[in-house]
Amino acid sequence: MSGNKSALVTGATGLLGRQILRAFERSNFTAKGTGLSRADGHSILKLDLGNNAEIQRVIDDVKPQVVVHSAANRFPDKVDKDPEGTRALNVLATRSLAKLCAGRDILLIYISTDYVFSGKPREAPYESDAATGPTNLYGQTKLDGEHAVLEEYDAAGKQGLGLVLRVPVLYGSAEMPSESAVNVLMDVVWKAQEDGAKINMDHWALRYPTNTEDIGRVCHDIAVHYLGRDDRKSLPKILQFSSEDRYTKYEICQVFSEIMGLNIDRIEPNTEGNDPNASVQRPYDCHLSTKTLKSLGIDVSTQDFIGWWRREVRAFRK
Ligand SMILES: NC(=O)c1ccc[n+]([C@@H]2O[C@H](COP(=O)([O-])OP(=O)(O)OC[C@H]3O[C@@H](n4cnc5c(N)ncnc54)[C@H](OP(=O)(O)O)[C@@H]3O)[C@@H](O)[C@H]2O)c1
Repeated sequence: MSGNKSALVTGATGLLGRQILRAFERSNFTAKGTGLSRADGHSILKLDLGNNAEIQRVIDDVKPQVVVHSAANRFPDKVDKDPEGTRALNVLATRSLAKLCAGRDILLIYISTDYVFSGKPREAPYESDAATGPTNLYGQTKLDGEHAVLEEYDAAGKQGLGLVLRVPVLYGSAEMPSESAVNVLMDVVWKAQEDGAKINMDHWALRYPTNTEDIGRVCHDIAVHYLGRDDRKSLPKILQFSSEDRYTKYEICQVFSEIMGLNIDRIEPNTEGNDPNASVQRPYDCHLSTKTLKSLGIDVSTQDFIGWWRREVRAFRK
């Protein structure tokens, strides 16, 4: 069904975009990725999403049937330090891209986050139509990006071609552990081996680490599903994907310590939750329901978190 189709992935030099690009490359799509500082200009095109003319040029050169928009400023602390730059990328550039794609009948999958929800105790799991309520500016800009996509496709009368896919915290193959809020805990476990180390680790917020390769596959499956349907207008516009593996960050450190045979006595579990004076408030539990994806017949199974890490550590040791 996907033969001769073309896909464009923004943020393809990033943790998630890389795997989304691979998923399309592995199937019958001709796939192109874009990046900014890490783009080499050949396998990955350099595209500054702050520049409308550049976006238009790339879209008109690549002529994709589907664009997966993964580029964003997604570090909540960095977002707080650069609200204007973040709005420019997460909201304004998203709107420009959506307008261009809607005008050309291109399917757009906008990658969003579980942080659009407040994550208050006893609210999760959240269905895709549940009330949103971000607790920090990052979540707010991603929610505004969602609205921008849906509004532009509505305005163009192209409902069903502009989609939102919400995902939770990511892990997977990374250039550096610091690319992922989960992978980086491997470094923390190593640091805990140093004499005199004393590390405070959150043991309050519940997280559902989801593998980037699984999300890549789901993006591909969504594209094939929506491109193959004539009745798209009646299909859901907001989709959610998540693993069911649930951990606090401290519990992830425990998993890593077990896999690597390292002691984590120097890591202190912290159950206090948010510091009410901190500028970035993190949600407690934003578990995303995958019911809508399941209703479309899209496979929502995921790799097993512990199994993936066991394989990764074994491969690294070889
Ligand atoms: N990471 C998570 O745990 C997580 C959780 C939930 C949702 N998400 C969402 O998933 C998506 C991907 O996240 P990620 O972790 O893969 O992000 P990432 O690793 O930080 O990658 C960000 C990407 O955006 C590109 N980019 C940054 N500024 C740009 C600009 N002005 N113009 C064009 N491209 C620009 C970067 O290019 P260069 O690096 O080449 O400059 C990079 O490819 C985001 O939409 C994020 O909100 C992430």
